[in-house]
Amino acid sequence: MAEVSRRNVLMAGGALGALGALGAAAPAHAKTPWTWSPEGSVAGAGAGADPRWVWDAEADPLVADLLDRGDVPRVNELLRTWKKNGQPLPGGLPADLRDFMESARRLPPWAEAGKLATAVDFNEKRGLYLGVLYGLASGMMSTVIPKEARAVYYSQGGADMKDRISKTAKLGYDIGSRNAYLDDGEMIVTCVKTRLVHAAVRHLLPQSPHWTGAADEDIPISQRDMMVTWHSLPTTVMRKLKDWKVPIPAAESTAFLHSWQVSAHMLGIQDEYIPATWDEADSQAEQVLDPVLAATPEGVKLADILLNLGSSVDGGILSKPILGAFTRFMLGDRIAGWLKIPREPIWDPLLRTAWGPFVAVREGLLPFPGAPEAYWTFDEFLRKAALLFLSEAKPISIEIPDTNRPS
Ligand code: HEM
Repeated sequence: MAEVSRRNVLMAGGALGALGALGAAAPAHAKTPWTWSPEGSVAGAGAGADPRWVWDAEADPLVADLLDRGDVPRVNELLRTWKKNGQPLPGGLPADLRDFMESARRLPPWAEAGKLATAVDFNEKRGLYLGVLYGLASGMMSTVIPKEARAVYYSQGGADMKDRISKTAKLGYDIGSRNAYLDDGEMIVTCVKTRLVHAAVRHLLPQSPHWTGAADEDIPISQRDMMVTWHSLPTTVMRKLKDWKVPIPAAESTAFLHSWQVSAHMLGIQDEYIPATWDEADSQAEQVLDPVLAATPEGVKLADILLNLGSSVDGGILSKPILGAFTRFMLGDRIAGWLKIPREPIWDPLLRTAWGPFVAVREGLLPFPGAPEAYWTFDEFLRKAALLFLSEAKPISIEIPDTNRPS
């Protein structure tokens, strides 16, 4: 039983984790004043400006220029060969882009190799929960972050959600890999390419006829939006792990946070907005994430697409109810209701009663010799399988969009 549900969940889970990182427009009650202090950030100081009005001053004008010059298809073709963190940039890139990328690919001075290595231990032991959580907590949560849902829906990738999700799932996969930030890993490449993608969306989306009126601000993906989505990932994951009483050593918890702090920086979020500790993360999330969650027509459609991802394999007979039940279990009745997810008479009660004991047994076995390695092997297999399913076994290449959603 547990095997069946794990496989199905991971299949769509790795899948949906993707979505945790997508983006779109905010409801009126999202206008909470910004009072979070930069003293709680990794920078320890800063101007404290409301990040709603801050975007990416380096990447945005550069990518807007690339789009206006018609350089994007050529750049995408060149960047397809750039895969590993330690790999030199391909020759032939426009000089301004090359200079930017050389600087953007550098880890922040505060990145600590030791903590990043400890994060690997954490990912190794908790890979299964992370896959499920990125997919079904973060991924489904992204559909009730109105700005994210709308941006994703109306951007180029919104027309092919499976492809879109496989690309975002790649980020969740890369950050959880053993060599994430090392030279033979891919997380730095994924972040820098994503930073370029976001800059393109900031230029393109305001030109979409659907965007006018859908957004509170003219330009999407502000630094505040970035932090909202960021909290739907590590902050939400850590909240759930605590709920499930997963015992996490303090060093591993800090290290997991650190790997996400580094990713925030690499995605172009300013250090003064990146929380330094979990307490600071929680207080920022209470201000920026919790109050913005709401249903939108676009989010409901996206959620339905996500819940149907397994349909090509089982016609949705098993995967859809399981994914729906997991979503309800992770995010609660209120959000499940917004997303019009039906109650599941078998799966809902089963998850409520069986998930706690399942976690307890798995945690109970962890101290035994060989258990972390065995868990890693099994979880890694599922993570790879999920990614292969999503990408339809094609190489995943994150590309700069040059249009919005066609219709
Ligand atoms: C694309 C991750 C925040 C909107 C992507 C991609 C990744 C990603 C990996 C590349 C996938 C692709 O090429 O399709 C993240 C992460 C975030 C974040 C980790 C925060 C920590 C946001 C926010 C928004 C947003 C806040 C909007 C409010 C988008 C859109 C695209 C995209 C619209 C797709 C562009 C296209 O259609 O090709 N994001 N994202 N993202 N992101 Fe984000």
